[in-house]
Amino acid sequence: MKQSHELGVPVPSKKAYVVRNLKNVSGKQREYIQKKTEYNVFSFPAGLLTVDYLSDSGTTSMTDRQWAAMMLGDESYGRNTGYFCLLEAVRDIFERGDMPSKKIDMILTGEKDTEKLMDEFFLEHIEGGFANGGRFQLIRPNAFILPQGRCAEHVLFGTISRLLFAENPKGKFFIPSNGHFDTTEANIHANRIQPVNLFSESMFDEFPVEDIYKKNPFKGDMDVEKLKRFIEEKGADKIPMIYLTITNNTGAGQPVSLKNMKAVRDIADEYDLPLFYDACRFAENAMFIKEFEDGYSNKSIPEIVKEMFSYCDGFTISFKKDGLANMGGGLFFKDKGTFHKKFSSNEDIGVLFKEMQILCYGNDSYGGMSGRDIMALAVGLYEVVEENYLKDRIGQVRDFAYKLAKKGVPVILPPGGHAVYIDTTEFFEGTGAKIGDFKGVGLTLELIRLYGIRACELGAFAFEWDKKTPEERKGILNFVRFAVPRNAYGPEHIDYTVAAVAELYKNREKIPSVEISRGQQLRLRHFQSGLKPKYL
Ligand code: F0G
Repeated sequence: MKQSHELGVPVPSKKAYVVRNLKNVSGKQREYIQKKTEYNVFSFPAGLLTVDYLSDSGTTSMTDRQWAAMMLGDESYGRNTGYFCLLEAVRDIFERGDMPSKKIDMILTGEKDTEKLMDEFFLEHIEGGFANGGRFQLIRPNAFILPQGRCAEHVLFGTISRLLFAENPKGKFFIPSNGHFDTTEANIHANRIQPVNLFSESMFDEFPVEDIYKKNPFKGDMDVEKLKRFIEEKGADKIPMIYLTITNNTGAGQPVSLKNMKAVRDIADEYDLPLFYDACRFAENAMFIKEFEDGYSNKSIPEIVKEMFSYCDGFTISFKKDGLANMGGGLFFKDKGTFHKKFSSNEDIGVLFKEMQILCYGNDSYGGMSGRDIMALAVGLYEVVEENYLKDRIGQVRDFAYKLAKKGVPVILPPGGHAVYIDTTEFFEGTGAKIGDFKGVGLTLELIRLYGIRACELGAFAFEWDKKTPEERKGILNFVRFAVPRNAYGPEHIDYTVAAVAELYKNREKIPSVEISRGQQLRLRHFQSGLKPKYL
């Protein structure tokens, strides 16, 4: 008789205890709602949708242990208990690999020994990593809790831009990346620095659908040759830092290999530049490394995460990803690392960040998050590096892409860990559609109108094709994204979506082009502008 893992289907790893029933909404009603909300997909009321793939961010169904931990949340204004749990969890997950201290257990199990709590938990002086503790976090603050990822970006870029332009008011600065996310790009721009995307040349390489369960070419890598040329051309003094987004959300959610992280680190060292990660979805990235990168199949996820983060000087992170929590963000940098040295000439850069954190978001021990949310996040950090969870998670996205590809729908293969991306240009090939017709938006509008399914255009419209120079347009990839919330949907949601998309693909000639009726010039306009589909 076969063993459970030999049955050829995944062994279930979880069950649901809470269920939300969906509303019955007709196509006519959805059409009416679209008109009333100016056809902006972000404005469509979520409670009237059938399946919502707008984002995987903050949409996670949390685990019972996370909900339980929320009861232990401490809402104090100064040094709430969760703050200590979170900083310990950050050290455990990003620095300690298979040797976590798991001091959070003292809080979760109600440790009563006050001396032990004082010595080992509340008053520990720690330095040298991503989260200084005790006295060192006061003298050289390097861990910043924030409400979400973009706040971390704002604190980081807002502060370094102030320093850069104070020294060189007419300077032109650049931050190269394997693919900046939209908020990252906008935050860099807003601070007068130029974001630059150096996507891997392999992004659009053909990939046979049958191989998606067997191989992964790490299309999210940064093109290191281009990076070197770029630094030589602009000059290292014009580049405050290099950025790697893991996984590469703008680049079709593709993972980044450890080989690439190391290669980028080497280049950073050669030019004495800090390397930062946008670490949203780091755990999913680690799972790809375990599954597909040579030499890592026998390493645990925590060990892989430890190695990944050994190569960076710091990171911004949205804790709303990776199944971590529904809210949260952070900015961390290595104590006394390249970044710290480069930006701490007159004043400690950490002190400047801390000032901005306190001015805009709340004091340093909660940074705009509630104590309950911090507890849920601290527990979540340990749960997302569990292999069973990650296998399920990535497996669901992979099955989704496989089923779409089998119906002939052009999706980026292999898929990344959090979303399936339709290649919009290929989807409409042969229909005479032009990039400025924003047909990708038309596709998302029809998905809502006909089927109550919400996806997101991340392409010509979101990345503002019509406002860019021909050179800048090269940095735009034209996608429609289906981001899968974690632990929320089952095979029935995926199958319904595949059937709906396949139907629209068959009828793609009828999908309307879209005009921007209001707010064409707005920054981050996809969140705010009004649209008008042009039905034939
Ligand atoms: N970086 C990446 C790679 C992201 O995917 C996101 C958010 C952020 C930064 C910003 O984080 O939302 O917490 O402020 N991505 C979401 C998405 C919104 O749908 O892909 P945030």
